[in-house]
Amino acid sequence: MYQIVEKEVLVPNIIYLKIKAPKVAKAARPGQFVIIRVDETGERIPMGLAGWDVEEGTIDIVFYVLGTSTMKLGTLREGDSIMNLAGPLGKPTEIDNFGTVICACGCFGIGPSMPLIKALKEAGNYVITIVEGRSREFIFWEEKLRAESDELHILAGSGGCGEEGWTNDFVSRYLEGGKKVDRIFAHGCPFMMMETSKASEPYGVKTIVSLTPLMVDGTGMCGACRVEVGGVTKFACVDGPDFDGHEVNWDTLTLRLRQFIPEEDRSAMLWERDNWHRLVETAPQALNPTLGRGEGKEKKKAVSSS
Ligand SMILES: Cc1cc2nc3c(=O)[nH]c(=O)nc-3n(C[C@H](O)[C@H](O)[C@H](O)COP(=O)(O)OP(=O)(O)OC[C@H]3O[C@@H](n4cnc5c(N)ncnc54)[C@H](O)[C@@H]3O)c2cc1C
Ligand code: FES
Repeated sequence: MYQIVEKEVLVPNIIYLKIKAPKVAKAARPGQFVIIRVDETGERIPMGLAGWDVEEGTIDIVFYVLGTSTMKLGTLREGDSIMNLAGPLGKPTEIDNFGTVICACGCFGIGPSMPLIKALKEAGNYVITIVEGRSREFIFWEEKLRAESDELHILAGSGGCGEEGWTNDFVSRYLEGGKKVDRIFAHGCPFMMMETSKASEPYGVKTIVSLTPLMVDGTGMCGACRVEVGGVTKFACVDGPDFDGHEVNWDTLTLRLRQFIPEEDRSAMLWERDNWHRLVETAPQALNPTLGRGEGKEKKKAVSSS
């Protein structure tokens, strides 16, 4: 069992957990993830590592409350335990002194960007962090990000919380202006990563995205996480999750991510009907799972029309 030692609802629908997992903390590297099963009847869900402390023997995760498993996870309190946790999984992100790097993130992707930004800074890079949010209330860890980055830009999305536009708009503006960038990293929803990759492609700036396909075992055995990269099938859990964003087949990734939506919706509805009081008691700010689902629909439209 893996005990939760700290919990915080960071912004609406996004929760932070610090979990006791000494062996995982000892081996963790930026870009890796864990697979969690909350309880006996739970499904296995992957979560990026948002930090770790070897001395304390803890790891951090940041998650978006979306469906049954993340709602369940969100209702655990400090002192409660998670039944299974496997990791660290996946290949660590390649860290080097590239020169000037942009770290683009948004939503739950702000979490796993944190150890990446620190590692890139320690390796001697000039780190420009860009964070997008549809409004100010969805931006978290601003001070932590500022402290670890050479520049921090908060992007307003549809307006009201910082500079104009989304991460892809920032990348286009920056590169159009002739500024030199040696590598871009993107963590967040597939749509954001796809748009950021499209923005950098004309300028030939390598863009590493951390893909989040459906996963089951996380060890290369089930094939659930297959993605097409450069025309070749890869398993994101063992070959990734980092891939070159210019080579990812975003259409198939998005379609595969959405293949069980009717079943997931039904499961979430039934769980919420029976357990709404647990959410009210433990994480009332996370009580709007439809937020994420609505966003998914907009994104699907945008992907299929691109
Ligand atoms: C390597 C990796 C790292 C991830 N890191 C994070 C993170 O740090 N924070 C975060 O909030 N989310 C992260 N995700 C996504 C997260 O795993 C899903 O949001 C979660 O599994 C949804 O489960 P659910 O039961 O709450 O939702 P459901 O209602 O079951 O599903 C909602 C949507 O979530 C996705 N999803 C469902 N099951 C899985 C699964 N087993 N594997 C992957 N995606 C799934 C699908 O797109 C689905 O339509 C990561 C995914 C991967 C592959
Ligand atoms: S999750 Fe099963 S092969 Fe990757």
